[in-house]
Amino acid sequence: MSTTGDPVQKAKSAAAASERESVVWPHRHLLALEDLTADEIRLILDTAEAFEDVSTRSVKKVPALRGRVVVNLFFEDSTRTKTSFVLAAQRLSADVVDFSAKSSSLSKGESIRDTVRNIEAMGVDLLIVRHHVAGTPHLIARNVGCCVINAGDGRHEHPTQGLLDIYTMRQVKGRIEGLEVAIVGDVANSRVARSNLHGLLKLGAEVTMVGPTTLVPRAFEKMGARIAHDFDRVIEQFDVINMLRIQRERISSNVFPSLQEYSRLFGLSAQRMKRAKPDVLVMHPGPINRGIEMAASVADGANSAVLRQVTNGLAVRMAVMFLCKQAAEGS
Ligand code: NCD
Repeated sequence: MSTTGDPVQKAKSAAAASERESVVWPHRHLLALEDLTADEIRLILDTAEAFEDVSTRSVKKVPALRGRVVVNLFFEDSTRTKTSFVLAAQRLSADVVDFSAKSSSLSKGESIRDTVRNIEAMGVDLLIVRHHVAGTPHLIARNVGCCVINAGDGRHEHPTQGLLDIYTMRQVKGRIEGLEVAIVGDVANSRVARSNLHGLLKLGAEVTMVGPTTLVPRAFEKMGARIAHDFDRVIEQFDVINMLRIQRERISSNVFPSLQEYSRLFGLSAQRMKRAKPDVLVMHPGPINRGIEMAASVADGANSAVLRQVTNGLAVRMAVMFLCKQAAEGS
């Protein structure tokens, strides 16, 4: 796709080209990659490509969502995702409001349903929801008329992170089909792992979950992943290695003897990197615990796509908000 011309027009033509191939974006909400078809995922990626160059201009704005209101409803901490949604909405010319759950009437006993219906009554078009309980964005979507986008629900899914990871892999490797992707670490507690898995399998990649038995349960095999507990034995086969943080906030018991032991067996050290393919793409959703899941030299090294992921997150979130809002206005 060309990188010149009006991005909104290009995003509309990406959508129109898909329509001609009978892929229409029908969804008002984006709640999980598990719910999407391969064609729908490709449509988001192509639409994101059309928006990519908005961020490189001196005036970083297109009028696609002018006059629309986006509310960020984050009930859990976030640095990258929240800022990325704010900037993406602003680049589409939407008005953006940040709702801080900690200083809201939820602390006075108001239910989530009442809170979101009151927020919606102020004329909101898109709600971006992060919550520590899996399924909360779905619950909210059933109770409001506006678009709802899941920005991470418990251990369940983080669809825009999955999309930006897949977008980055496609951008660097030129394809997803046939790619060998490793997802390494605290798979059991990771919504990023689940969204990556669903999206990558639909697009034809091979996915291997790597980690200790306590963090990589057999259940992932039923979802279509391969499983490996010895990183060194399998590392050389991967085109992409996506490292995960140990989600200490979701772990209640001891799942490995010590952090040093975990890091020695599953951390991506400079030494371990020597066994990987020379052009392996190293990824991490952030926040990175340097020296635990990944050495600082690897995070900042030539194979790392960590900051590229963050940059791509903007275009992907612009595409998701644009498509969902279009579907809502067309229905
Ligand atoms: C992830 C999340 O919150 O699920 N981070 C992110 O959104 N960039 C992963 C994590 O917290 O480790």
